[in-house]
Amino acid sequence: MRSVVPPARLEGTIKVPGDKSISHRAVILNSIADGRASVSHFLAGADCLSTVACMRALGVSIQDGDPLVVEGQGLRGLREPEGVLDAENSGTTMRLLTGLLAAQPFFTVITGDRSLRRRPMDRVILPLRLMGAEVRGRQRNSRPPLAIAGGGLRGITYVLPVASAQLKSALLMAGLFAEGKTTLVEPAPTRDHTERMLAAMGAGITTQMSPEGVQSISLEPPVSLKAVDLEVPGDLSSAAFWLVAAAVHPEARLKLEGVGVNPTRTGILDVLQAMGARLRLERERTEGGEPVADIVIESSQLTGTDVGGEIIPRTIDDIPVLAVAAAVASGTTSIRDAAELRVKESDRIAALAMELGRLGARVEELPDGLIIHGGSRLKGADCRTHGDHRLAMALAVAGLVAQGQTTLDDAEVVAVSYPSFWQDLDRVAIGSVC
Ligand code: S3P
Repeated sequence: MRSVVPPARLEGTIKVPGDKSISHRAVILNSIADGRASVSHFLAGADCLSTVACMRALGVSIQDGDPLVVEGQGLRGLREPEGVLDAENSGTTMRLLTGLLAAQPFFTVITGDRSLRRRPMDRVILPLRLMGAEVRGRQRNSRPPLAIAGGGLRGITYVLPVASAQLKSALLMAGLFAEGKTTLVEPAPTRDHTERMLAAMGAGITTQMSPEGVQSISLEPPVSLKAVDLEVPGDLSSAAFWLVAAAVHPEARLKLEGVGVNPTRTGILDVLQAMGARLRLERERTEGGEPVADIVIESSQLTGTDVGGEIIPRTIDDIPVLAVAAAVASGTTSIRDAAELRVKESDRIAALAMELGRLGARVEELPDGLIIHGGSRLKGADCRTHGDHRLAMALAVAGLVAQGQTTLDDAEVVAVSYPSFWQDLDRVAIGSVC
């Protein structure tokens, strides 16, 4: 349990933890590369530690610390694990490793916690079967645990039925080992960290945009990958909580240092700017093939906006906290084309409608999003996190501006992606309005 009350001011500098997506990929791809890689600012959150544990069970030596050191085994060096692999709460671990394991000449079983065992895996299983893998799951091959008898894959051309970087990356993992080329066509561009890292490791990977604006990614299986040292940029989806916190609080100025601003992730910045947020990027630079900047944000007068279409995959993880911004903004905000939110760590559409409702916001649930009528002052309440890290942090941000006290039933869940969230909050929340 944890309670939050509005502080008098929000002020200071935060170096947010390493990017979750890039941390997973740095461990997985360096594990199958040639050579040793040092990964600094690796996110030691529960999700990425699940990936580390799974790669160790597959025979990879990984030394903890900053930097994390991964001893690459080469493309053919993984070994059959003795036990069941456990991805715990991490969809990225489960989906990316399913792609990798589908290509290995051995048998594996991978499972997860109660939340992950409810999430759809058929999107990954179906194309992996087309590539020649044997993958089975619970509920007619749609839910974990998954049993995988891998090997002998062939490349395919596949139109992804959902805009999902996890699906795209799973198929690229498999494509690394397949015979012939793998080509993936995306319904809308999704985060491209896998493509960037594979290119840096020497893989033949290309991205093409058709005249109609459809993006496709092609991969020729490499003979080998070379290990790459990298500094993981700060996670923009962790910075998102502070961006909204500062924008909605009347006395706020926060500087977020070293944040990844890859254009496939910056939907949050576009939406906040459209809402009138006073934010600016400083010291824009490129580190390890990824764009990085410092972001300064101050108290702002936000107004409602419409969020939908191609921007959704570019801000999918930030919608819980964007919903908080919308509840405080004047006017109405609509969020559409975001049905994927229903199959995240929780059903984020239902959970946001319920919890923001407890705080006094007027929220309507849509099959694929939310309508949020802003402008009313939020009132502190006892809220539930639904076991979802991003919901917990979004509700904590709401608590920074809600009158009175807001409590969260399961505050520790933030450790999935942002273990130091509460310490950072205590550092920048200065004084109390009571
Ligand atoms: C991720 C992709 C997104 C995102 C998740 C991390 C990744 O999921 O929600 O937190 O690292 O590829 P989908 O690709 O399923 O949309």
